[in-house]
Amino acid sequence: MAAAEVGDDVLGDDPSVVALQEYTADLLGKEAAVFVPSGSMANQIAVRLHCQPGDEFLCEAGCHIYNYEQGGYAQLSGVAAKTIEGTHGRISIEQLAHKVNPDNEHLLRTAMITLENTHNRGGGTVQPLECVKAICTWAKENGLARHLDGARLFNAVAASGIEASEWSSAFDTVCICYSKGLGAPVGSAIAGTREMMKRARRIRKLLGGGMRQVGIIAAGALYAIKENRLRLTEDHANASLLASAIDRCSQLSLVVAPESNIVIFEINAEFSPAAFCEQLAEFGVYGLPFGPKCVRLVTHRDVDRSQTEAACEAIERVAEKL
Ligand SMILES: Cc1ncc(COP(=O)(O)O)c(C=O)c1O
Repeated sequence: MAAAEVGDDVLGDDPSVVALQEYTADLLGKEAAVFVPSGSMANQIAVRLHCQPGDEFLCEAGCHIYNYEQGGYAQLSGVAAKTIEGTHGRISIEQLAHKVNPDNEHLLRTAMITLENTHNRGGGTVQPLECVKAICTWAKENGLARHLDGARLFNAVAASGIEASEWSSAFDTVCICYSKGLGAPVGSAIAGTREMMKRARRIRKLLGGGMRQVGIIAAGALYAIKENRLRLTEDHANASLLASAIDRCSQLSLVVAPESNIVIFEINAEFSPAAFCEQLAEFGVYGLPFGPKCVRLVTHRDVDRSQTEAACEAIERVAEKL
């Protein structure tokens, strides 16, 4: 990063950003990609690309765009969301019946569907590929744009052995994060057709996401996507180890068996997740209270096997006192 060649990315001539965007677009099987500061901005650009004020989009009820972006689609783009309750973040094609509003001036125009893979609130679950494809085919037939929130797409790739371009193929736009499991300090991207990415750059500028000599950050992102995505299976194995420790604790239960690097468990005692996390923190293990009864743990490249084993011991020590 310190040695990165830089230019001015608002003018489009930062060579490190150009290299990152080309590498990313190629990996996702899309014509072009645009580097942005965050996954939230990538998603909000997608909303604005595909929807007009007075439109709605379909999404799973626990997804990030709906829950954790301050309703940015409404605040920034005058768009509404229609949610569908999934099972661990997964929705089925049957649940989509009658979800597209008819052409009627009383109603919002249904313009887009978004899916999230892996699904954060769902517990890092991988969406089944056939289901993703069937949903996207249905959406296309119904005139809806298709956006994939792939903040953790490379975890889905590592867990399934299915290439990122295959996961992305049924979508118009895909966003990915170089941060999170890939380990870059900052950065995300949105990918799609050249024409869409030209418009995405305009929206990025509007949202204040045009960054100047940003090659120093892009270089870290390029390293992360080239080198670190190949080791995500280690994080998944560590998540499974945490899950087996949780399984040994009668006071805790896994919400779903981990499929990637996220482990969510419920506390079956009158003990708040915040208090549980405080006790874990005394062992140097940092979990996130996740709703009224649950805790989320995430494995990543800075936590190795022996640290995971230590985390397992810490979980068991805290749980036995409940
Ligand atoms: C599924 C998903 N999408 C998007 C985001 C947003 O990413 P960022 O924190 O870079 O805005 C997150 C962040 O946790 C996420 O989990």
